[in-house]
Amino acid sequence: KRGADFANALLHWNRTENHRQMPWKGEKDPYKIWLSEIMLQQTRVEQGLKYYQNFIEAFPNVHVLAAAPEAKVFKVWEGLGYYSRCRNLMTTASHVSNELNGIFPKTYEELLSLKGVGSYTAAAIGSFAYNLPCAVLDGNVFRVLSRIFGIEAPIDSTQGKKTFSALAQAILPKGQAGEYNQAIMDFGAMICKPSPLCDACFFQQKCTAYVEGKQSILPVKEKK
Ligand code: ADE
Repeated sequence: KRGADFANALLHWNRTENHRQMPWKGEKDPYKIWLSEIMLQQTRVEQGLKYYQNFIEAFPNVHVLAAAPEAKVFKVWEGLGYYSRCRNLMTTASHVSNELNGIFPKTYEELLSLKGVGSYTAAAIGSFAYNLPCAVLDGNVFRVLSRIFGIEAPIDSTQGKKTFSALAQAILPKGQAGEYNQAIMDFGAMICKPSPLCDACFFQQKCTAYVEGKQSILPVKEKK
């Protein structure tokens, strides 16, 4: 079926042609994964890089972060914006450090219960750290799936979110969730960009958007 076909082709591309390097790629420490994914939520990768490195240097593990004075944490966060993210970070660091002996939860549901951790972040931590079979859905993934499979449901509608979430979960290759999730985000960032590089794409001839000339109208958004 087409989902498995795409997942296999994506994994092959990832192993042979994806040379994108980022410090959190291949990271298995849930603390570092959590931190990077929270930082990258409303921040470009290029801007996030420096902050991530500074943050890890200042607070190398969850106990150090939990014990740090708030003002010091805010100081390192300063300039990243969305300061509620930083507040939630401190709340969750205290919780993990004090209540959970410094050990991040290992199930999707428990990860989701952490303050500031939504479905995207829980799936990212779960799949990257523990290879849990949870598909990530972010802007990159919506764009890629909408084009490859020609899904015209609006990505910001309740129905659309359900459609994409079910599709993403159905395609996810079990046992390779971490690698696949990172690969689809890299593919969205490097090939299936908002203005896509279709001539460099391994799936060009099988992509609904390419075949039907719909790259520029997908993904569909309800609200502007
Ligand atoms: N944006 C958010 N998380 C990312 C990741 N793990 N890799 C690439 N881009 C991202």
